[in-house]
Amino acid sequence: MINPKMQQALNLQINRELYSAYLYLAMAAYFESVGLGGCANWMAVQAQEELTHVQRFYRYLVERGGRVSLDAVAKPPAEWASALNAFEEALKHEGKVTGYINQLVSFALAEEDHATNNFLQWFVAEQVEEEASAEGVVQRLRLVGESPGGLLMVDRELAGRVFTPPPAAGDAAGA
Ligand code: FEO
Repeated sequence: MINPKMQQALNLQINRELYSAYLYLAMAAYFESVGLGGCANWMAVQAQEELTHVQRFYRYLVERGGRVSLDAVAKPPAEWASALNAFEEALKHEGKVTGYINQLVSFALAEEDHATNNFLQWFVAEQVEEEASAEGVVQRLRLVGESPGGLLMVDRELAGRVFTPPPAAGDAAGA
């Protein structure tokens, strides 16, 4: 049985992951509105990934005999100044999420909850990827600068991102 303080902390993280999905869906909608369908696709795939993070925390809490409790999800922004600005904000957001995951790990260790620490290690690795993938787009967008042709090229590339559901927690593949 998970301890109540850890349960509360993981429920808070569920809310943050839901907000992440909401934020990326808002960014997808923004990109749709400015005719950048590839960027919209990238963000929509990202939103789907965030929902798998929600599911992972949800499952874990249930497995540990905890109670999932859902709070209101904050309203995300709706407009960004440019494609670069939106991806920079996405990168900044992922940095914040990495900080939350690290805090959760520290808390699990302080509580001597080794099962939760072990569970969270998947997210520690995932955050490295999440930041790297947003950072990669930011770098490309900085390179193209004000060039509409360059922006369209990046947009075309981001149209190719496909959602691949991660293996369920506990699978032999490790995550
Ligand atoms: Fe769920 Fe993008 O971290």
